[in-house]
Amino acid sequence: MPCYSDPSCVILLAKRQKILALTPRVLQVNRRLDEWVKLEQLDLDSVETVVDEKVEDKVTSLKMTRHQKRKIDETHVEGHEELDAASLREHEEFTKVKNIATIELGRYEIETWYFSPFPPEYNDCLRLYFCEFCLNFMKRKEQLQRHMKKCDLKHPPGDEIYRSGTLSMFEVDGKKNKVYGQNLCYLAKLFLDHKTLYYDVDLFLFYILCECDDRGCHMVGYFSKEKHSEESYNLACILTLPPYQRKGYGKFLIAFSYELSKKESKVGTPERPLSDLGLLSYRGYWTRVLLDILKRHKGNISIKELSDMTAIKAEDILTTLQTLELIQYRKGQHVICADPKVLDRHLKAAGRGGLEVDVSKLIWTPYKEQG
Ligand code: ACO
Ligand code: ZN
Repeated sequence: MPCYSDPSCVILLAKRQKILALTPRVLQVNRRLDEWVKLEQLDLDSVETVVDEKVEDKVTSLKMTRHQKRKIDETHVEGHEELDAASLREHEEFTKVKNIATIELGRYEIETWYFSPFPPEYNDCLRLYFCEFCLNFMKRKEQLQRHMKKCDLKHPPGDEIYRSGTLSMFEVDGKKNKVYGQNLCYLAKLFLDHKTLYYDVDLFLFYILCECDDRGCHMVGYFSKEKHSEESYNLACILTLPPYQRKGYGKFLIAFSYELSKKESKVGTPERPLSDLGLLSYRGYWTRVLLDILKRHKGNISIKELSDMTAIKAEDILTTLQTLELIQYRKGQHVICADPKVLDRHLKAAGRGGLEVDVSKLIWTPYKEQG
């Protein structure tokens, strides 16, 4: 499995696919920061010679599109191999052209990452203007300005279920706030690739993370959750808006989803496939939570006990510990081998802890169908 935090791995992928004309500086950045490039922008003198002949034709056709580069990466992302060839082809055909290039949302102008199936009347726009509170979107800035004078929302609709300092979480029921739920899905799809856009938002709850100030509660990110999941999914889609990424909000949202599962007395797991960034964030979260417990725990502990304590599904615990080589299979049983020095090394490598969820500030009861 590739390690996306290891730049040498990205270089390896690039070599195989002969994107070697890109400079090493570019190779180390994430694939979503790429763009259409013309031949004259490439430094062909730095090309090395390991060439995959099948790809060569494409490269010499002057341009490699963002989508092509994405396809290359995705064949190596965990979860995407679950898509069969036909669905992958269908998805790629349908989403070939990124329709909306930028959006304005609150204080930010944000470059989008992927195609999102906005209604046909938006086909001719490159930029959309979102109301940051109700998430209605418009074609022109003046429309948004007029809308902002009328819109009386200053936070997402629904119930505020968490407030700690300037951070708030709102729970929005897709059935009660259909338009908001749909707007959120259109918006989120601009940053999520292999996710189906559900028009039937009735079946979902949306948890919106906001930073609050005297102007209102500004959306930072969210996750969605099915009201009833047969597969014990506790999270369907997760997004931190690009201007807020790498600040610990993703791990906060993940931690929050597990706190909800604990309150439901259930174990949970995120819906698959996970994106590369999703997998990194989950791996980081699982590693930190599990190793913190193993460090403090005296005596034996089973995967079932770890699962009961954390609400993390047993399979995810097993793969995390296996990836860290902390588990051995002896006499038909998985045994956790936790040398304190090894645990410390892994904890250090797992990155920062993210923003803490203060459970005492969570006021929430599990969803129950009304009537
Ligand atoms: N480059 C390298 N590592 C990264 C990057 C990046 N650009 N972004 C996140 N990570 C890794 C790091 O290990 C990071 O921890 P660290 O900062 O301590 O090193 C960890 O992921 C999580 O960082 P956070 O700051 O807590 O997370 P963030 O707020 O950036 O949100 C998320 C993570 C939600 C995955 C975000 O990248 C995102 O919205 N991506 C686009 C949508 C997406 O891919 N969602 C997941 C789809 S799968 C699903 O929905 C079930
Ligand atoms: Zn509005």
